[in-house]
Amino acid sequence: MEDELKQIVEDAKQKIAAASNRAGFEAAKAGISGPNGALTRVMKNMGSIPKEDRPTFGKLLNQAKQRIQGLYDEALVAIEAAELAARIGPAVDPSLPAPIPGPGSSHPLTKTREEICGIFKQIGFTVVEGTEVETEYYCFDALNTPAEHPARDLQDTFYLPDDAQFGNVSKKQDERYLLRTHTSSVQIRTMLKEKPPLRVISPGRCFRRDTVDATHSANFHQIEGLYVDENVTVRDLKAVLDYFFEQLLGKGTKTRFRPHFFPYTEPSFEVDFSSSHLAKLGSEWVEIAGCGMVEPAVFDSVDYDAEKHSGFAFGMGIERIAMILYGIDDIRYFYQNDGRFLSQFA
Ligand code: DAH
Repeated sequence: MEDELKQIVEDAKQKIAAASNRAGFEAAKAGISGPNGALTRVMKNMGSIPKEDRPTFGKLLNQAKQRIQGLYDEALVAIEAAELAARIGPAVDPSLPAPIPGPGSSHPLTKTREEICGIFKQIGFTVVEGTEVETEYYCFDALNTPAEHPARDLQDTFYLPDDAQFGNVSKKQDERYLLRTHTSSVQIRTMLKEKPPLRVISPGRCFRRDTVDATHSANFHQIEGLYVDENVTVRDLKAVLDYFFEQLLGKGTKTRFRPHFFPYTEPSFEVDFSSSHLAKLGSEWVEIAGCGMVEPAVFDSVDYDAEKHSGFAFGMGIERIAMILYGIDDIRYFYQNDGRFLSQFA
């Protein structure tokens, strides 16, 4: 009996080693452990073995089964590796040159941001930065946005867990951290640090709980502007934005202000523009920005004297401007990192 088991293990070794693919392996396995396999036959004969010999035989049988299972496992690993190698072709040669020739180029959003900043720099604006993680104070309260304002809703704003920690953004005890929904929070950060006169722009990433589609992305970019001095009027605001849009979109570009509401400006406007670039968009006026005269309550929250100083602010989406400039019809292209799209801006 013992010899028979030894023989079965020896045969199994040879048969399994000879199997070079999965079908061969399954056939070899069937011949050993299948219903009519050699090992199965021995097991079926257990009954004919004298009772006193059964424990010894059982032990030997188990050992043989384990050996054979080990052979199966090893063979399967080798077969699977061979199958994988056949699927992916010859091994990668790391000494070959990279498949993408030539240098990279700026992302279209970077180009657009640089172009926008360049125009404002010509007329005395400097670029400032804020933080993407903000507190309710900078994003809403200091901007005169009431507690019940819909923008603060959980459905619109990403709030961070109560126990989140950000060393560089201090928050009051009962406040929550959030991902800024607009760059307007930088207005507050800037005014708390600097005294008027002030002329700044601030580009950066913003976040909203928007469902992604051709014109919405939960993560997008804005550029904010803030101008504070004495005797600043709506005329100044209109002149600055007119100049900006004409530089950006070419001679003959017109802007139009429509009354609107923002908590941090009074009066507030939405800005539309019209330009030859729009022929392909198929409508004459296109909404592009929000703006207005800084609301005195905002000056109060940063300890500016609203009697002495006045100012204007504006904000606009960088993606939207890039889509107009380059004729892009789906915002998702910006984030897919597809070389076929990106190389068109090189
Ligand atoms: N924060 C506004 C938005 O995200 C845009 C905006 C409107 C910014 C008016 C301003 C402003 O500075 O004065 O839609």
